[in-house]
Amino acid sequence: MARQFTDSKIVIASHNSGKVTEIAELLEPLGVSVISAGDAGLPEPEETGKSFIENAELKAKAAALSSGLPALADDSGLSVSALGGAPGIYSARWAGEEKDFERAMKRVADALLMSGQYDKTAHFHCALSLCWPDGVCETFEGVLAGNLIWPARGDKGFGYDPMFVPNGYTQSFGEMDPVEKHAMSHRSLAFEKLLNKCFQR
Ligand code: IMP
Repeated sequence: MARQFTDSKIVIASHNSGKVTEIAELLEPLGVSVISAGDAGLPEPEETGKSFIENAELKAKAAALSSGLPALADDSGLSVSALGGAPGIYSARWAGEEKDFERAMKRVADALLMSGQYDKTAHFHCALSLCWPDGVCETFEGVLAGNLIWPARGDKGFGYDPMFVPNGYTQSFGEMDPVEKHAMSHRSLAFEKLLNKCFQR
């Protein structure tokens, strides 16, 4: 059985305020108060892992050790089948220092063209890890499959959303109402598993 979360406070091991708000909204109804790693002045570890799981765990472990509180981290990205899973764990880094996702999406589209393959399948992947200060971690994954389109469509969402159409839909994540996206996303799938396994209150 997974270790249960019984504390009243949790650190969100992210310096991305959008992510912290999204996670806080999910946890606060459960009576858990949320502190962000940024507000707690915790250092941001380098993402040296070779997988989404390794990166999520190293971020959560570092925050739990330095704060003395349980900490939650996620690591996510877009994996394109014809590119051998790239950009994968490097999804944020493909956008460069300026976090320019127009450029990152163009890079994906160009790489697909260069690959000469017709396979446009891709998936969004999320690893979510809850770690305690004693080093124990419970980690869950969510995967959402879809197809890439080019040119990209829509101005909602973030990152690679405008070039991703989830299976069974015609709108890209960039065109879709965010509530609809959040109900099916890789992040919410991982969250659902975390809540079911570690927050049985
Ligand atoms: P992380 O913050 O290191 O986990 O980086 C995740 C990166 O993956 C983001 O910067 C986005 O580029 C991409 N990504 C993850 N989830 C999504 C999503 O739901 N939509 C679009 N892009 C995403």
